[in-house]
Order: sequence, then structure tokens, then C-alpha cells
Amino acid sequence: MSRKPIIAGNWKMNKTAAEAREFIDAVKNSIPSNELVDTVVGSPALFLEGMKKGVKDTELQVAAQNCYWEDFGAFTGETSPAALEALGVDYVIIGHSERRDYFHETDEEINKKAHAIFKHNMTPILCCGESLETYEAGKTAEWIEGQITADLKGLSAEQVSNLVIAYEPIWAIGTGKSADANIADEICGVVRATVEKLYGKEVAEAVRIQYGGSVKPENVAEYMAKENVDGALVGGASLQADSFLALLDFVK
Ligand code: PGA
Repeated sequence: MSRKPIIAGNWKMNKTAAEAREFIDAVKNSIPSNELVDTVVGSPALFLEGMKKGVKDTELQVAAQNCYWEDFGAFTGETSPAALEALGVDYVIIGHSERRDYFHETDEEINKKAHAIFKHNMTPILCCGESLETYEAGKTAEWIEGQITADLKGLSAEQVSNLVIAYEPIWAIGTGKSADANIADEICGVVRATVEKLYGKEVAEAVRIQYGGSVKPENVAEYMAKENVDGALVGGASLQADSFLALLDFVK
């Protein structure tokens, strides 16, 4: 089965509204057809309304970087998945290692978010990944299997077929130290094997798996050439318009 590639930028807590607008104006007419690749920008929640207006009638899609699992209520400072749906947001990144580490998010919470995002007709980009300690102890595969099993709990086969999972080794994020393409392929393969164990072969063949961690225009094609890597989740190299566009050159 051929899976459509998906390249997603993750701006993290960067840019002002004016800078977000400038970026969209600079890239929007140069994005390849979404018959070839899904191209997504993950923006701070503050700019999502403007971003959705800015990408109207273009091939760009928009992701939030987080949301809560309840629709509305007394949850000061949280972002409602119902409100994201109303804006027309396409994807929501969940379980990023920065959320897990700095904000102590648990697999149980990430699982609730995944259910809420599907309920609101958006697609989760679910991140998983191991620490340097786990990697060096040779325990990456069991760690990843544990995260994925907990994060997908109760999701249907149809939901998981449509899901995007990002494998991001924590030791490769923002460090300039990317996991080489063979490691990325191997661990994305572990993610796929875990999905197969839980949901069967057809779902495992359908789910799209990204690699993330110091992906740049210079190395993206190497990752994309690998069997189990269907895309990239990109932080630093997604911030500048020219670099973001260059990440998409592999489809040409
Ligand atoms: P990076 O970040 O590309 O800057 O390493 C990736 C991510 O955290 O999603």
C-alpha cells in the first residue's frame, strides 16, 4: 500500500501573529499538490484563526500543538478541541516530548486527547520517543511499544488507520543530532509492528509514521526514502519560509 507523505512543521512557542502571516504569505503559493504530499504547519493556538484564513484555497493545512480533552468548562488556560474544530483546524499534535517532560503529561491524558480530537473530526499527530538513557540501555523498542499501546487505548481500527504517529527520539530534538535514517526506519518499524499487534496488518499498513528530530532540507530525502518513514515532524527547520519549502523538494 502506498501511503501519502506528510511533512509537518512544529513552530513550538515561536513567532508573533505578524510573523506567522508573513510566513504563510511567503510559502502558500509554492506548496506541492496535496495529491502528492500533505503539508502542515503547527502553530501556537493564538494564530490558528488567522492561519486558517491565510491558507484558504491553498494546499497548506494547519495543526494545533496541543488541546484539552473536555469540550468546554472551567479549565483556565486550556484550549478546547470543540473550538479548534470550529476554526477548521486539521490536525492536533499531542504527546510531544516537551509536553510530556515540562508539563508532565501522562499517556492516560494523551489518550483522552486522542479520543477528543477524533470526536471533533480532526487528526491527531501523536508523538512518541525515548530518552538518551533508554536508547543507550537498548530499551527503545519496549519503551515505544508501551507508549503506543497506552496512547491508543480504546481507539477504533478506523481511527488508527487515519492517525499520524511521529517517532521523535528525545535525544535528537533540537540538538542537531538526528537519529540516522536506518535507526529512524527501524524504530518507525517498531511503531508499525505495535500497531499491527494491536489492530492487525491492514491498519498497520495504513497508519502514517513520521520521523522527527533535527530533520532539515539536507537530510529529509534520506528519511523519506525509507520503507517505514512516511513523513517528518520538523521544529527548527520549519521556522523560515525558504527552509520550510526546501523540506518539500523531495516530492519533485
Ligand atoms: P527539531 O524539533 O526539528 O528542532 O529537532 C522536532 C520536534 O520537536 O518536533
